[in-house]
Amino acid sequence: MQLRNLWWTFLLFIFGQLDVHYVRTTWPSSNSSSIIQLLGLFQDKVNDSEPTELSVQSRAMFKAAVLLSQQYNITIEGQFIERQVAQTGGNAIDAVSSTCQVISASNIVGIVGPGLSRETPIIADFAERVGIPVISYSATDPDFSDRNAYPAFYRTVPSDNAAASAIVKLFIRFNWTSCIIIYQNDAFGSDGARVINEAFINNRLIVTDMVVFDIATLSIRDDLKNSLSSSSTRIVLLWAESTYTSLILQNALDSDVLGPHFTWILSSNVPLNSFNQTFYQKLIGMLTVEPTTASVVGAPINTTLLNAAYNIWQQYEPETFPGSTKVNYYALFAFDATWLLIQSLQQLCSTTTNSSSSCILFDGSSFCFDLRFLNFNLFFDIITNMTFLGVSGPIQFNVNVTDRIKGSYYFAQNSQSSSDGVNFVPVLAYSDHDNWQQYAGANAIIWPGSSLVPPTGSAKLDGVSLRIGVIQSVPFTVITSVTDEFGQNTVKLTGYIPDLINLLQNRIGFIPNILIAPSNQTYDALVKAVADGVYDVVIGDVTITAKRRLIVDFSSSIFDNSLRIIIRKPSGVSVDLLAFLKPFSPNLWLLILGATVYAGILICLLERGENEALQNKSIISVCAMSVWYSFGNLVGYGADFDARTAAGRLLTVGLYMLSIVLVASYTANLASDLTLSKSQSVISGIDDIKRGKIPFNRIGIRVGTAMEDYYLAEISNNIPNYFAILGANTQQQVSDDLLDGIIDASFMDIGAAEYITNNIYCNLTLVGDDFDEGAFGIVTPKQWVYAQDLDVNILSLRESDDLNNLKVKWFQTQNCPDSSETSSAMGIESLVGLFFIFAVISVLSLLLFAWKKRHVIKNYLFTILLKIRQPKRRIL
Ligand SMILES: *[C@@H]1O[C@H](CO)[C@@H](O)[C@H](O)[C@H]1NC(C)=O
Ligand SMILES: *[C@@H]1O[C@H](CO)[C@@H](O)[C@H](O)[C@H]1NC(C)=O
Ligand SMILES: *[C@@H]1O[C@H](CO)[C@@H](O)[C@H](O)[C@H]1NC(C)=O
Ligand SMILES: *[C@@H]1O[C@H](CO)[C@@H](O)[C@H](O)[C@H]1NC(C)=O
Ligand SMILES: *[C@@H]1O[C@H](CO)[C@@H](O)[C@H](O)[C@H]1NC(C)=O
Ligand SMILES: *[C@@H]1O[C@H](CO)[C@@H](O)[C@H](O)[C@H]1NC(C)=O
Ligand SMILES: *[C@@H]1O[C@H](CO)[C@@H](O)[C@H](O)[C@H]1NC(C)=O
Ligand SMILES: *[C@@H]1O[C@H](CO)[C@@H](O)[C@H](O)[C@H]1NC(C)=O
Ligand SMILES: *[C@@H]1O[C@H](CO)[C@@H](O)[C@H](O)[C@H]1NC(C)=O
Ligand SMILES: *[C@@H]1O[C@H](CO)[C@@H](O)[C@H](O)[C@H]1NC(C)=O
Repeated sequence: MQLRNLWWTFLLFIFGQLDVHYVRTTWPSSNSSSIIQLLGLFQDKVNDSEPTELSVQSRAMFKAAVLLSQQYNITIEGQFIERQVAQTGGNAIDAVSSTCQVISASNIVGIVGPGLSRETPIIADFAERVGIPVISYSATDPDFSDRNAYPAFYRTVPSDNAAASAIVKLFIRFNWTSCIIIYQNDAFGSDGARVINEAFINNRLIVTDMVVFDIATLSIRDDLKNSLSSSSTRIVLLWAESTYTSLILQNALDSDVLGPHFTWILSSNVPLNSFNQTFYQKLIGMLTVEPTTASVVGAPINTTLLNAAYNIWQQYEPETFPGSTKVNYYALFAFDATWLLIQSLQQLCSTTTNSSSSCILFDGSSFCFDLRFLNFNLFFDIITNMTFLGVSGPIQFNVNVTDRIKGSYYFAQNSQSSSDGVNFVPVLAYSDHDNWQQYAGANAIIWPGSSLVPPTGSAKLDGVSLRIGVIQSVPFTVITSVTDEFGQNTVKLTGYIPDLINLLQNRIGFIPNILIAPSNQTYDALVKAVADGVYDVVIGDVTITAKRRLIVDFSSSIFDNSLRIIIRKPSGVSVDLLAFLKPFSPNLWLLILGATVYAGILICLLERGENEALQNKSIISVCAMSVWYSFGNLVGYGADFDARTAAGRLLTVGLYMLSIVLVASYTANLASDLTLSKSQSVISGIDDIKRGKIPFNRIGIRVGTAMEDYYLAEISNNIPNYFAILGANTQQQVSDDLLDGIIDASFMDIGAAEYITNNIYCNLTLVGDDFDEGAFGIVTPKQWVYAQDLDVNILSLRESDDLNNLKVKWFQTQNCPDSSETSSAMGIESLVGLFFIFAVISVLSLLLFAWKKRHVIKNYLFTILLKIRQPKRRIL
């Protein structure tokens, strides 16, 4: 073990020593007495022990361009163009100081650089004062595009305005809608983040948050983990130089906010193999968006120039030459910047007609701020008008902006695992007219988690631990206590909701931590607990209401709900002797009776003289016969004699007409009335409750539920005049109170109501149609970052019919005897009154018969009486 450690220490020592890769240059020394010199400004010292690739390669290409001009025999007034190099180091005043030093000592006619946006304004202002052009190869800050503010400034690198629209198009290509931006707090970072934010807003994309990386303290101002994981987006846009990019990535790795949960888009690539090998998996799937040259989209570049420049580089600084395919694109922009200056100088001196003076003429002292290049107006004009094909594509400017007007190209690299760790490989290429295209010969894009499917960009619940609140409510959540084989009491949850949680868990992959709410908690309090952070979510039969939506959010519906009225089953049908009279109102019956008697009297008057059936009878008998006649015709059967007079017949016509309508209406009403009376309850629906058919204090309402809201809003005008049901297990209380006769009716959610009446309390029943349709939703905190993930999965459960299957499983059981099975046959009860009246009439008719035959009966009885007495006498 110790031997191995020693061996590692030894290796580390060796490689540590080799790691000092400072640049040993063998470039031909510059003739510092030449009157035509160009100044290159680069970030790192020449022999810096940790130089950036950008700085080293840009410097090499700058030198190569100057040497190439000499090779091409380009002379200004007979002299070769020479070069000076200065280091800027990232501090604006240092940059001015180095520049000033060089300018005071040599004839500098143009500056290539500076590399950093934060050094650019002061160098550009300084150059404007001296009257020499500044052409940057890597300052991308969009603010420098303004020609009026920066008359001496040009750049060969595209501005971040172009980068912002490339990034927007990238988001549109992958259907991402939001991101979080991390930027370094200098001109490059903050102005870049600003234009990206503006471009996002213009394209209806969202920047959810901006996180600042402080380049002075080299730390992120906020808690990175907190900022990223509390955001709803999982796309991170990192707008920072490559030096800071490594630091930020390391920070992200330590906070575990990289792959596979987050997709990072970087503005510069960094060597990924410098990270600890254990992190390689998490680094896979990042993208970079970097400016590049025309060649990546197949547009022409000047390969003659490029090859000549590479040859010179390889000749003088072979140890930094990375191979012609791996040269940093900023180095090519540096070459074009230098070549633009060389070409413009050449043109300046060839067009200057005043041969009596030099085209390169300075005015002023040796103090750098007092220097003035005399021909600056013409020089700037020439640069503005210059067009040529450079090594990064066509170079052309116009008078209005400092940017090149053609040739903004970007490419996206993707971090993929390779044989030697993780590397960036180009996958997409962008030009402003072709949008993003597949990079020629590129591999497929590998996304975080080594996936081939592009991420959706929104927060995923996968692997997230959730505190889920549930509440007892049969059959949504049934809590039973079971004793396991070790004699331990454990709580077991069954029902629709636990099944739903399982389905969601299998689909989404969150880690559920189920917390059972106290049984005396109201639903409103449960909702409030989510707003207060007691639970992450509450899953249960919680109705989505306007009042609750003010403090929390809801997922899409997990159960379509409505309310039903629950009451006791009516105990048997009450016997109503006169049920058969119900089709007509008492007044109508009286009217019919009156009409019958009236018609009878009329018949008696009209017919008495003519009709033999009425002659020779007592007045009472005639009246009875007349009423008999009118009754018989009124019910449609007629009497055993006919009218003889015309007036009598006319009256009979009237009776027939009455008969047709009365008999028909009676028959129709009777049929429907008898059916109704079979299913008669105290109330028939919610309208009866609204009308107050049940005393309000006998309607049980569970406090803190959506039913209470409904009652107050729709029934009682916000007066809490109901019987309040409070405390634990309110659902069971409702049923018990109903059965005990404490209340007469209550509201219940349709699912629970049907389950209870079908399975548990067979003596309770539901009346009326359902009302107050609504939905149950999962309660989530407001603006919950995982809301979209949850909704998408609930909707797909719904679409795949899984929710329906759950509903069938839990709600379509039936243990109670089927009460709705009613035969269509009428019972005796409804017609008992009719038979009673028939019995009375038959007794009356018997009595009548007896009255008529009273003499015969009297004689007969008398005879019988005698017969009984005589034998007695004989015995006596
Ligand atoms: C440097 O330039 C000066 C002026 O053009 C010239 O006289 C001198 O020979 C040059 N020196 C070298 C080493 O080229
Ligand atoms: C390298 O840096 C040292 C100071 O650190 C300086 O003295 C030396 O001149 C530098 N070498 C070159 C080639 O610039
Ligand atoms: C440049 O000039 C030298 C000598 O004056 C000559 O040998 C060389 O061929 C010329 N190169 C070009 C590209 O004209
Ligand atoms: C983006 O959305 C469109 C339309 O919805 C779809 O056709 C396309 O496949 C999606 N692209 C990606 C990368 O998901
Ligand atoms: C890489 O990380 C592992 C685990 O975190 C650690 O044990 C190891 O020392 C690290 N290696 C280096 C070179 O830092
Ligand atoms: C490339 O540049 C050289 C030197 O400026 C020029 O002579 C040549 O014509 C250019 N080639 C193209 C294709 O523009
Ligand atoms: C040439 O330049 C000199 C000095 O700058 C100036 O005095 C003279 O007028 C110029 N001649 C012309 C024709 O521009
Ligand atoms: C530059 O072009 C503009 C218009 O194209 C022209 O007016 C101006 O004279 C040109 N300048 C030079 C120095 O060629
Ligand atoms: C420059 O801007 C002016 C006014 O904004 C416009 O009229 C002109 O066409 C622009 N010139 C070019 C070359 O775009
Ligand atoms: C619920 O019951 C507990 C004790 O069982 C009590 O402390 C608490 O106050 C009750 N909450 C409500 C809202 O009644």
